[in-house]
Amino acid sequence: MFDRPQHGERAILVHLDIRHAESSDDLDELVELAESAGAEIAGIITGSRNTPDPKYFVGQGKLDEIRLLIGSTEAEVIIFDHALSPAQERNIEAALECRVLDRTGLILDIFAQRASTFEGNLQVELAQLKHLSTRLIRGWTHLERQKGGIGLRGPGETQLETDRRLIGARIKQINSRLEKVRSQRDESRKSRRHAEISSISLVGYTNAGKSTLFNHLTGAKVYAADQLFATLDPTLRRIQIPGAGPLVLSDTVGFIRHLPHDLVAAFRATLEETRQADLLLHMIDASSDERLERIENVKDVIDEMGAGKVPVIEVWNKIDLMDDVSPRIDYGNDGLPKRVWLSSITGKGVEELFTAIADFFRQYKVSSWLSVDMSAGQIRAKLYEMGAVVEEKLGDSPIWQLKVELPQSYLDHLCLEEGVSCLPQNN
Ligand code: GTP
Repeated sequence: MFDRPQHGERAILVHLDIRHAESSDDLDELVELAESAGAEIAGIITGSRNTPDPKYFVGQGKLDEIRLLIGSTEAEVIIFDHALSPAQERNIEAALECRVLDRTGLILDIFAQRASTFEGNLQVELAQLKHLSTRLIRGWTHLERQKGGIGLRGPGETQLETDRRLIGARIKQINSRLEKVRSQRDESRKSRRHAEISSISLVGYTNAGKSTLFNHLTGAKVYAADQLFATLDPTLRRIQIPGAGPLVLSDTVGFIRHLPHDLVAAFRATLEETRQADLLLHMIDASSDERLERIENVKDVIDEMGAGKVPVIEVWNKIDLMDDVSPRIDYGNDGLPKRVWLSSITGKGVEELFTAIADFFRQYKVSSWLSVDMSAGQIRAKLYEMGAVVEEKLGDSPIWQLKVELPQSYLDHLCLEEGVSCLPQNN
């Protein structure tokens, strides 16, 4: 399958500033990406061009510079911070006699290392095969023309046809497996909807601190590491937030600038949790100089995924790294929470986040009096656990009267329970 750099593999990074094209201009991010893939950076080559060279992407002078650096550092792979055409990738490999990886290949590699669930692995393999198939088709067309040449005549398929057929069959198989996983997930989402459990999805630029907050909120040990895309698969957990009741929280893949399109498409299903969420918590590394740009990048991906209409609370994280910032909630003119400042590592500000979440969900709630028989004591206990009870009066024994704040549909369910009756609103 796809060649990936082994840990410690020596790499040379090439980053050009292309003036007449949309190009990534963040060298730090390329370094982070390469390190996340397990590369050891042996050297960095930068430069600028008006337009990429059609054959080698870089000019002849730059190519010589890279060749010299390979000689002196014994680098094993050259990583370009750009999307190379299959032909460019092949030409550079041939000219430098060294393996070449472009930005898409690098990100695919990191994804391949991080995917841990069945679905995550299938999605990465699908994205890899699609990447590979464009390379096969476009990269090998010269061979097709030789069909029928000496040694190639005969009834058999050419290697290219075999490869394409195998890849096509595998893509089909993966798609049908993914379809099964998705329909199972849809079912469980439907049953959650039926039970009126609201869902929150954590989104944000890679390394913003989503997993750290997720762990803090759930007590789960999700893999949190100072690496890009440490989390690839959506992780779902049920949580209880005082005043907001039971919720399902999902952690998602980190976003990144110029995320290759195929990958966004491959992860669309995984990100379905986000599209269907009642609330997004957009995690932001408040201590990063790039924060404003990253906020925009994340918003673009959210829109692209079709989740642009889901309400958002921004979570400005890592305030422990900043001077004079204390935990707080900023409210918008509509009275709803817009931004929470906290530190997921120290836990300072998590209480404020709970308040903001409860304030957000309160808008969908109604308050009502219930009378609950002693026989339904478990329901009373559950309502307390959910933080739904705002007042209690001991009615004519053996009955409790509770004033609760709950979503209307949850209340409707509750009123049908044995031992519970709903009292008229003005009681
Ligand atoms: P991806 O999985 O790549 O999307 O990353 P993520 O957003 O889940 O980030 P993660 O929780 O893995 O955190 C990234 C790094 O930031 C880790 O080294 C964390 O320890 C660190 N980090 C997270 N929150 C805080 C914080 O509040 N303060 C400080 N100082 N570091 C934090």
